[in-house]
Amino acid sequence: MIIQENISLKPYNSFGIEAYANQFADIKSETELIEILKTHRNSNLFVLGGGSNLLLTHDINALVLHINNKGKEVLDERGDEIFVKIQAGENWHEFVLWCIHNDFGGIENLSLIPGNVGTAPIQNIGAYGVELKEVFESCEAIELESLSTKTFTKSDCKFGYRNSFFKTKGKGKYIITNVTFNLRKSNHNLNTSYGAIQHELNKSSINNPTIKDVSDAVIKIRQSKLPDPKKIGNSGSFFKNPVITASQFNQLKRNFPEIPNYEVSTTEIKIPAGWLIEKAGFKGKRFGNYGVHKNQALVLVNYGSANGNDIFNLSKLIQKTIKRIFNIDLEAEVNII
Ligand code: EPU
Repeated sequence: MIIQENISLKPYNSFGIEAYANQFADIKSETELIEILKTHRNSNLFVLGGGSNLLLTHDINALVLHINNKGKEVLDERGDEIFVKIQAGENWHEFVLWCIHNDFGGIENLSLIPGNVGTAPIQNIGAYGVELKEVFESCEAIELESLSTKTFTKSDCKFGYRNSFFKTKGKGKYIITNVTFNLRKSNHNLNTSYGAIQHELNKSSINNPTIKDVSDAVIKIRQSKLPDPKKIGNSGSFFKNPVITASQFNQLKRNFPEIPNYEVSTTEIKIPAGWLIEKAGFKGKRFGNYGVHKNQALVLVNYGSANGNDIFNLSKLIQKTIKRIFNIDLEAEVNII
């Protein structure tokens, strides 16, 4: 196992922020992972997956473990269902494309989400009406304290909106090594109810969509709204969509009758943060080499060599402004280091 010193993390975070790791190890298998954890029990560790939900505001004075184990395996087939076990270091979108190619349905709405398979359960990735938890069967993770492998079922993971056990009680205690998904190999359950998907399918005159058609529609929608991290550094949605009480919503509606909203329960309403940020005047605002994306105000971007702290300070300014105008607390979705 090679441990490199003083490595730039720029290629390893989708924001494209320059920050250095004191030590860095590219982990290619679970065996390598356990070996390095055994020999570095007292070291400061930093676990890095796809780096797509991360804002680095300083160098990492730790041993960075880049989880890069690969492999896809069909475990079982029952009726219409198929169970596949995917290693944590696989790229998420490549996994989606592999599913589409094999006609395994369930994650086509989650096309083009940056990041890796192993980090997808941590924040229960979601898009266009589907969340990871709907296809999640189980995952395996190494417990850092005991170095033993634990299996987590769906209920163990306590999935919520962009949330899970691994972001709350289990934070910093486990490294996910693989994920098993429950997909469908026939009689697909397509989810095209999200407005933009249906619109996109109609535009192409597709009446009986396949999972590939849905994936293609999602890819088109994402490409039209969201910047490609390979071209413009970003971490997708920087904030979560806030959930407010029905009474606060009714008050807001008096001042902003057009405010978009989704009912979460009879007492709670979710508001699109992108709308709040746009209304506050930030959409498309550029501050030198960083700013707010022009097509989706929820996405903060690095146009070149932005400093992580500049983007962090912009996020603080946005939070303060949204609090002042709407009395709503915006919570960052991205991990700020
Ligand atoms: N909106 C605006 N202005 C904007 C952006 C959005 O007014 O600049 C309003 C519009 O009313 C629009 C609504 O917000 O109809 C919803 O926008 P969109 O469909 O783009 O979705 P979102 O709620 O902003 C969420 C996820 C995205 C996911 C999309 C599609 C969160 C934090 N974000 O965004 O996830 O792709 O839905 O399902 O829940 C990510 O997590 O990184 C991510 C990109």
